[in-house]
Amino acid sequence: MRFEELKTPVYVIDESRLEENCRILKEVQDKSGAKILLAQKAFSAYSTYPLIAKYLTGTTASGLFEAKLAYEEFHEAGKKNDKEVHVFEPAFNDDEIEEVCNIADHIVFNSINQLEHHRKAWEKAVNEGKLSVGLRTNPEFSTQEGHEIYDPCAPGSRLGIRFCDMPEELPKGVEGLHFHTLCEQGFEPLRDTFKAFEDRFGKYLGKIKWLNLGGGHHITRADYDRDGLIELIKYIKATYSIDLYLEPGEAIALDAGYLITTVMDIVNTEKYPVLILDTSAACHMPDVLEMPYRPPLRHSGEADEKSYTYRLSSRTCLAGDVIGDYSFDKEVNIGDRLVFEDMAIYSMVKNNTFNGMPLPDIAVMHDEDRCEIVKHFDYSDFKMRL
Ligand SMILES: Cc1ncc(COP(=O)(O)O)c(C=O)c1O
Repeated sequence: MRFEELKTPVYVIDESRLEENCRILKEVQDKSGAKILLAQKAFSAYSTYPLIAKYLTGTTASGLFEAKLAYEEFHEAGKKNDKEVHVFEPAFNDDEIEEVCNIADHIVFNSINQLEHHRKAWEKAVNEGKLSVGLRTNPEFSTQEGHEIYDPCAPGSRLGIRFCDMPEELPKGVEGLHFHTLCEQGFEPLRDTFKAFEDRFGKYLGKIKWLNLGGGHHITRADYDRDGLIELIKYIKATYSIDLYLEPGEAIALDAGYLITTVMDIVNTEKYPVLILDTSAACHMPDVLEMPYRPPLRHSGEADEKSYTYRLSSRTCLAGDVIGDYSFDKEVNIGDRLVFEDMAIYSMVKNNTFNGMPLPDIAVMHDEDRCEIVKHFDYSDFKMRL
């Protein structure tokens, strides 16, 4: 099917852009010696896992379900355990920990309580040579402004162990440390965070086998200082003789997806005319409201920048289900198709059927003339959850 023929609403994964991101990440791996993992919370459209697996070391999961998905789908067919499965969760369920320890090869605990509570389960897997255990730390070094909900170093954060709560010696069995503090950031905040981490937690660095620098690194963005990152990784590896992991989510599928929508109606208001779309911020791109942010839209400008400005909204009944105000060179008509860009990340993994809204299908674009629907959703997907 051609791009123009896809029935809307539909998420389209741009395979060549995804592969280009993976190539860049592989180059960083090769030049620095770091191991890069796909953070599935950002992107888990698993039909693309075989492609991503050609380039990356493995995946990281936010719990049992993502770990299972990686275990089932990320390995080369018939070659289980050729890729690494990491997992971090603030608290692991007693009913799930055994399965998590069987699937994962790296598990990261968020507190000494959790580590000790599950000791029996993880020690068994460690003794069988199947698992390595780490602790998430909180370097208490905030580098973000504005998005407090995405700042694990914000005051009162539950994510990671503060230095004042760390024991003098690492608990028996702990082989790694982890921090995740960034969100959509360049190299400099990582450099500064590592320095803060090293100042506080440095005494443990000689005692561990691996360090995970988390996600939030926009490594595949054109202006990212990749040489700086490579130098930092080389420095850490050479100084402390440890394995280094990065677990970005966004960087893997950045600018590698679209959400195509159709204009269903146009409603006049005392302000801009409102386009009623067959997609929704609340249901299909919740980060637009949560973060909040303005998704890029093909062939459009800021409000009043071009001749025709519209408010883009949805067919849900939520008054605030507004995507933003956009302007166009030409008048927009009912039936026109609009293309939101950068829609592969934190979209499919977060969508919902509020208002009984249908979920957009998922397509993979091999090239403009060859789009393949990999998931189709209907009424049953709404009903089964309720
Ligand atoms: C522990 C952890 N690792 C990795 C990531 C991936 O971050 P990003 O998609 O911003 O690169 C997140 C995102 O919240 C996270 O919480």
